[in-house]
Amino acid sequence: MKQRLNARYLGLDLKSPLVPSASPLTATLSGARALEDAGAAAIVMHSLFEEECQKDQQMLHQFLYDREQGHAESEGYLPEPDGFKTAEERYLETLRQMKEHLEVPVIASLNGVTRRGWSDHAWQIAEAGADALELNVYYVAADADESSQDVERRYLDILHAVRSSVPDLPLAVKISSQFTSPVHFVSQLKQVGANAVVLFNRFLQPDIQLETRRLRSLLELSRSEELRERLRWIAIVRAQVAIDIAVTGGVHSAEDVLKAQMCGADITQMASALMQRGPGIIREMEAMLLDWLDENEYDNLLQLKGSVSYRNAADPAGFERANYLETLDSWRP
Ligand SMILES: Cc1cc2nc3c(=O)[nH]c(=O)nc-3n(C[C@H](O)[C@H](O)[C@H](O)COP(=O)(O)O)c2cc1C
Repeated sequence: MKQRLNARYLGLDLKSPLVPSASPLTATLSGARALEDAGAAAIVMHSLFEEECQKDQQMLHQFLYDREQGHAESEGYLPEPDGFKTAEERYLETLRQMKEHLEVPVIASLNGVTRRGWSDHAWQIAEAGADALELNVYYVAADADESSQDVERRYLDILHAVRSSVPDLPLAVKISSQFTSPVHFVSQLKQVGANAVVLFNRFLQPDIQLETRRLRSLLELSRSEELRERLRWIAIVRAQVAIDIAVTGGVHSAEDVLKAQMCGADITQMASALMQRGPGIIREMEAMLLDWLDENEYDNLLQLKGSVSYRNAADPAGFERANYLETLDSWRP
């Protein structure tokens, strides 16, 4: 079975394209082990967040400053020195545990938006034995003075800094779809050293509470429909940029995996489906994929890869504007 579903991503040989993406399920060794036991081909760890690291730094600075000034309250800021671990130390500890106890590859994840700090974190992560690193720049461009080029430059600078500090570590960049020309941007990421892109981050959309006029943050899990936007861009990127592609966002079924594979994805990452239905869905999806291969007389999943990419699709114009009018006209009252 392994050979029939196998996949290759970031230089790693995987037994299938079914990979849990960063989520609370991959934050602990026990969570990751449950996923591995259920058939996960690799684990993308929950992220180490820039905000957590900054908080540790601020706390440490305050502590050192107050101690220097002789303020007694400084002793209250930090737990006993022996017991104190920063977010990064805890993260590295979990990573080392996963590397020690899991057989599948472990992809660490860094999540932030500023240009500082990434190089050192990435270096520590490589030293702790990660098989690869995913950079999630979850950046909401909300400044009228910041151009789209500035936004792209931010990503490229971060990637450049990380690439310089870990020249040999396979790197993936997880981006949102909100770029004017996603395929051009992916090609720039490749030039700066990305080995893979993860398409696409889901931005969480705040709602408004009418009574209080306050923002309400909702955690809504994804639906299969969200995959379609990814399929289009995977197909377009696959045909033009020689880079590994992971899909994230809306993968809920074996059919979704097949579609992503046909458009050209190397792996399919899942979070919502696993959180809703549990790790057991991985085995179910494996079985369904094998059934589909049998019914359609394919030896293995790799034979399908890219068969519906922008280059290979029978009707590639469907990925562009072409079917727009036709589809609008198809509506009947
Ligand atoms: C509760 C929760 C926590 C998440 N934590 C992270 C994270 O730490 N780092 C990250 O890059 N993505 C994180 N994500 C995003 C997922 O990895 C994934 O990209 C997104 O949920 C879309 O995939 P899905 O449709 O399979 O859920 C999280 C998602 C959820 C729902």
